Amino acid sequence: MSDIEQIEAEVLTAINGAGDLAALDGIRVAELGKKGRVSGLMKTLGGMDPEERKEMGPKLNALKNRLGDAIDARKTTLEDAELDARLASEKADLTLPPRPYRTGTLHPVMQVFEEIEEIFGAMGFAVAEGPDIEDDFHNFTALNFPIGHPAREDHDTFFMTPDAEGERKVLRTHTSPVQIRTMMSQEPPIRVIIPGRVYRNDWDATHTPMFHQVEGLVIDKVSHMGHLKGCLTDFARAFFEVDEVETRFRPHFFPFTEPSAEMDVKCDRSGGTVKVGQGEDWLEVLGSGMVHPNVLRNCGLDPNEYQGFAFGMGVDRLAMLKYGMPDLRPYFESDVRWLSHYGFTPWLLPSLSGGLS
Ligand code: PHE
Repeated sequence: MSDIEQIEAEVLTAINGAGDLAALDGIRVAELGKKGRVSGLMKTLGGMDPEERKEMGPKLNALKNRLGDAIDARKTTLEDAELDARLASEKADLTLPPRPYRTGTLHPVMQVFEEIEEIFGAMGFAVAEGPDIEDDFHNFTALNFPIGHPAREDHDTFFMTPDAEGERKVLRTHTSPVQIRTMMSQEPPIRVIIPGRVYRNDWDATHTPMFHQVEGLVIDKVSHMGHLKGCLTDFARAFFEVDEVETRFRPHFFPFTEPSAEMDVKCDRSGGTVKVGQGEDWLEVLGSGMVHPNVLRNCGLDPNEYQGFAFGMGVDRLAMLKYGMPDLRPYFESDVRWLSHYGFTPWLLPSLSGGLS
C-alpha cells in the first residue's frame, strides 16, 4: 500500500471513530493542519523532480480534499447527534405558570359573577342571558310597568334614537327583561340566574352608568315565599363565607313582583368597614318577590297553575362590600395598580368545596 493509501485508511478510521466535535477537530489539526501529516507530504513536493511532482501533486490534493469531505460529513453527523441528545434531555414544563405569575388579574366584578354562579349552580340553577339593547315590551311593559307609570321614570333610562317604525329601544335598565325572555321560550319548571350588564343614567362614587346585576327566576307549581327566603338566606351565607347570617325581608315595591321584599343582612359597621354576620346593623343586599300574576299572564303562563319567585342583585355593590372597595369608579378606569391590588388569579375558579375567594 502506498503512503497515500495508508494515510487515507488511517485517517478515515480516526475520523469515523471521533466521538465528539472536539476529537474530530483534533484529527483535522493533526492531519490537515499546517504541521499535519498531509501538509508534511505536500511539502515534499518541492524536493521532487518534475515528473514525479506532476504525478504526486494531484494525488496529494485529491487526498486532502477527500479527507476534508470526510471530516465535514462526520461533523454533520456529530452535530445532528448532539442536537438530538439536547432535544431528548432538555424539557420545558408547560404545566408551570408563566413568570411573572400575576401580570393579568380577574376583575373583582367577574370574580363575584363566578362566585354567584357557583353558589346558584350548586342549587340547580342554569345560566340564562339576553341582549343589552332591549325593547320597551321586555324591559317595562311585560314586567307590569304600565305606560305612564312613575316606576318607569325611576330607572333613568338611556333611550336609543327611534327606528324606522318609530320604536325607541332602550339600554336595559335591569336584567329582569330576561325573566320575560326565559318564560316565553322555556317550559316550567324554570330555575335560572341571569348575569349581565345594565345601564342607568347615573354617575357618582356608588353609581356608574353601566353596572352589573344577577337576576334569579324560579317558576313551577309549588315554590312560595318560604322557598324564596330559604334560597336567598343560603345564598347570603355562602356568598359572605360566614357560618351564620341573619337575614331580614323588608316589604318593598316592584311592579313585577307581589309581594315584594328587599333582603337585608345583619352586619357590623363599627370599624369603618362592613362585617357581615356580626353586629346589630342591617345592610340591604337584594330585591326579590313572588312573580306578579300579570307577568306570568304576559308570558302566556296561567297564574292559577304556575307561581314562583324572582330576585335581583347589584354585583358591583356586592363586590365592594365583600372585598372592601370604597369607590365604584376605579372599576372602570383600567388602572393596572388597582387591578393588581384588587384583582383575582384568573385560573383559581371559585368553588364551594375549595373556597369561593
Ligand atoms: N329588577 C330590580 C331592580 O333592578 C331587582 C329585582 C329583580 C327585584 C327581581 C325583584 C325581583 O331593581
